[in-house]
Amino acid sequence: MRIAIYPGSFDPITYGHLDIVKRAAKLFDKVIVAVLNNLDKKPVFTTHERIDLIGDAVSQIDGVSADSFDGLLVDYVRSKGADAVIRGLRGISDFESEFRMAQMNRKLDEGIITVFLPSDAGNSYVSSSLIKQIAAYGGDLSEFVPVQVAAALRDKFRGH
Ligand code: PNS
Repeated sequence: MRIAIYPGSFDPITYGHLDIVKRAAKLFDKVIVAVLNNLDKKPVFTTHERIDLIGDAVSQIDGVSADSFDGLLVDYVRSKGADAVIRGLRGISDFESEFRMAQMNRKLDEGIITVFLPSDAGNSYVSSSLIKQIAAYGGDLSEFVPVQVAAALRDKFRGH
């Protein structure tokens, strides 16, 4: 069984991420969308909230589940019996840092393969940080995130 990990902050998950998840699910038997439990980044959503929102969003996609991890990604990948890491690329600007991360992870564990998937052209400008800005000013999010995520964002930013 081929298992892949799709790691990230997912604060919150967007249609851009979901497009990558759907493509990854066609390539692997199991895909685990893994939220980095990183307190430094001061996320809008707690790790549990992010896992719940991802769980809802992927419930119709076979073989996909949501989880969280601490520490080094390569250690988490191994602990799940996986050997591939999925990352989406929105364009050239993502490439440099993603390539460095892939090289570092390869150095840390030779057996782990990073698989880059191109984002859908229609989602190439979508990012969780822009989504949060739009949410903070009460903008329409329906094109960018699932309805549950839009509702959760509205709740978070109510009264801001
Ligand atoms: O969604 P993001 O914030 O771009 O995801 C970045 C993430 C979580 C994939 C990356 O920061 C990560 O893997 N962190 C875990 C710590 C680690 O393994 N660092 C070394 C990677 S070279």
